[in-house]
Amino acid sequence: MNRTVESGKTLLVDGPASVSVVSGKVEVFGFILRNMRRAVVREGKRLPFAVKETATFDISLGESAKAEEVDGDTIPSSWIKAYEQMLNPQVKPFTAMVVGAVDSGKTSFCTFLINKLLSGGQKVAILDGDLGQSDVGPPCTVSYAFVTKPVTDLFNLQARNAFFVGFTSPSRAINKLAEGLTSLKQEILSNNPDFLIINTDGWVEGEDAVNYKFQLVEKLNPDIVFCIQQKDEMASLLNTFGKIKKLVVDSPSAIRERSREKRRSLRELGYIKYLRNAKVRSIPLSWLKIEEDELIGLSRNRGSRKQANRIYELLGMKPLHFAELQDKICIVIGRRRWISPDNIKKVEEITKKKAVVVRKGEEEGLLLALYDAERKFLGIGSLREIGYERKVMKVYTPVSNKISIVTIGRVKLDENLKETPIFTEENE
Ligand SMILES: Nc1ncnc2c1ncn2[C@@H]1O[C@H](COP(=O)(O)OP(=O)(O)OP(=O)(O)O)[C@@H](O)[C@H]1O
Ligand SMILES: [Mg+2]
Repeated sequence: MNRTVESGKTLLVDGPASVSVVSGKVEVFGFILRNMRRAVVREGKRLPFAVKETATFDISLGESAKAEEVDGDTIPSSWIKAYEQMLNPQVKPFTAMVVGAVDSGKTSFCTFLINKLLSGGQKVAILDGDLGQSDVGPPCTVSYAFVTKPVTDLFNLQARNAFFVGFTSPSRAINKLAEGLTSLKQEILSNNPDFLIINTDGWVEGEDAVNYKFQLVEKLNPDIVFCIQQKDEMASLLNTFGKIKKLVVDSPSAIRERSREKRRSLRELGYIKYLRNAKVRSIPLSWLKIEEDELIGLSRNRGSRKQANRIYELLGMKPLHFAELQDKICIVIGRRRWISPDNIKKVEEITKKKAVVVRKGEEEGLLLALYDAERKFLGIGSLREIGYERKVMKVYTPVSNKISIVTIGRVKLDENLKETPIFTEENE
């Protein structure tokens, strides 16, 4: 469908949609589009096409997508001022951190700053610190990319390196997140960017959130913090930041908010992006160092044979896998096997530890991070199966390099790469 929009207006397009600029001049988050330039709007997202010179668009709308014309530009003037603040920086590289609530426009503001800086010929990196609504790397990771061409959506970038945290929610992994972001920042700086933009998650309200963001600012030491404000949700964070150099910018009124379900389905696009062309690989467990595997205690051996035999006796069976961890006992049994609760209680009494029984097959779908021997992040995978008899791990992944380290995440994906609840006491 062709549509002409006058100069001075903005076409708001809600995805899924594909939009080409047939003629005229259009700006999307600081990126000038003309001459048949095409932009894809993902489902659940909205892009503002601000018309600078009367433009004709060729638009294909997917199911439930729409395009609506509004007067003026939906980019707040405070965003332009924020960009101007970054010109002529006192230091190089200059680091700006962006904070704001969910759906406040953090990603769009980062995109805007990046495009503007690129048009001024700067070398720009983005460090994506949002686990749940990550734009650059896979969900559950923090990651970075150097941006060499303007973009309408940061999702189009591929991560140059990532740090796997394994959760979708920051509150469950504060220290790990801070560690990951700090180490990635060092790596970025060693590549000499002119500007580094750090995006963060939308957890800003409440004492824990405020403390976490303050900790991040202290560790990452940005030259400026841009705080996107909708109403007064940032008040206590702003207060805590005290003398830290900051600038409050507006949240655009044309923002499109998303439900929890939409956020989840956007996240699923993130898994799909990093599992494209995946195949099942079978890797001997003996080749691998397995981390964060408290769910099944895979990397631990059974301890002393005597103790193991004693426990098998109490259980009345020999499990497929057994591991005694510091605070619990992991027991893996066959799909159709059964252990009497009385026997489990006996094991708990003798060992003074909680016994967790997992059935073979329950591991299927766990999200994995894959690293090489030097701990370089290779990509993600989804656990297909642990072959306890043949001592192999079957992983669905596009990664073809040699994998030496596997980290197990606290997220599980079904065969359509949709998130599903996880087993055992981790299930909240
Ligand atoms: N100026 C604007 N005009 C129109 N739409 C906008 C504008 N800014 C942002 N949006 C749209 O509003 C939605 C929310 O913005 P964005 O994704 O940038 O927010 P966010 O704070 O990063 O959200 P999240 O917490 O999910 O990461 C997006 O679909 C975005 O494209
Ligand atoms: Mg975002």
